[in-house]
Amino acid sequence: MLDDLPMRATTLQQNVLVASLSPALQLRVWAWVGRRCMPRNPELVAALAACAAACPTAVRVKELLESVEAYAVAEAFISGCAGRGRPTHTIADVACGHGMVGVLLAYRFPHSSVVCCDLARRPAFDAMVDAFAREARKLEAWAAPLQNLSFVEGLLDCEDIVSMLGPEACVVALHACTEANFAAAEMAQRHGAKWVLMPCCMRTDACAPAGCQLRRCADDTRHALLCGSLAARYGCELLVQADRRITNRNIVLCGGSGASGAEPVRFLLPHAKETAAPHRYPDLYGAHAAAEAAAALLAEESTCGTCAVANPDEGAAAAPA
Ligand SMILES: C[S@@+](CC[C@H](N)C(=O)[O-])C[C@H]1O[C@@H](n2cnc3c(N)ncnc32)[C@H](O)[C@@H]1O
Repeated sequence: MLDDLPMRATTLQQNVLVASLSPALQLRVWAWVGRRCMPRNPELVAALAACAAACPTAVRVKELLESVEAYAVAEAFISGCAGRGRPTHTIADVACGHGMVGVLLAYRFPHSSVVCCDLARRPAFDAMVDAFAREARKLEAWAAPLQNLSFVEGLLDCEDIVSMLGPEACVVALHACTEANFAAAEMAQRHGAKWVLMPCCMRTDACAPAGCQLRRCADDTRHALLCGSLAARYGCELLVQADRRITNRNIVLCGGSGASGAEPVRFLLPHAKETAAPHRYPDLYGAHAAAEAAAALLAEESTCGTCAVANPDEGAAAAPA
């Protein structure tokens, strides 16, 4: 499916809307999402598809697939930690942008409080929440989903967020860009919270070991090295590489649960390969009745869309002193 989507050189084009794909390709996208994201809850795919239909600009192919990849890692990490007696009752999706990952986590963990935070609340967030509410009304089991979800407009380390953090919290920061990546990890560490990071643009001087210069590194190599450096700095417990065709900023780092090598946590990730075999989550919502109906639904690379810089190091070097 991924190879049939509009690509730049080696990753998905940035601004393609799901609604602009052919109907056949849209079905394949939704089937892919459904297999990787709560496959026993097909109403979730129905809600995302309803959102794309009602508000086409809210659901872009690349953002959707990136979010699903990141969600799958966060879900595995949070569930794995819970299985080892380190539960998560609060999730803060900071620098959340459209907020899709926060929405998915709130749906998956209805007994946890999930807060999405960004400098501005985007219409895409409300479009998604509305679509979930509409789809949920069709379910007998669960008429009002996402009651555990809220939005804070402000800096990621504002008082509303900081006051929620503690050992039973998890800070999620996906493609937060430059300093926001570290701000999120360091805030989580200060408060003993878990963290999930998917770094985007990173400056070498801020991320590499002190005094280390990176020369003649290809963009992917540089990104992987800087992620490795962050993994060491923050004591990463789980590192997952998402599909490189979706995003070249595809490394997800998780930590902060206190797990050690002597006491490894078992993380259950979806299959890396595209496969029809479903990844089984517990059916939290009793939604099997909806399964039949929704089954039918079944830069170049280094440029960051938000920062609009081809290489953050070059941007830093070009800036006036
Ligand atoms: C590239 S977007 C990523 C959005 C989303 N997490 C995702 O994965 O698609 C980066 C977002 O970070 C937000 N952001 C950057 N610095 C921030 C800060 N200090 N506090 C809150 N949000 C911030 C921006 O407003 C923007 O929406």
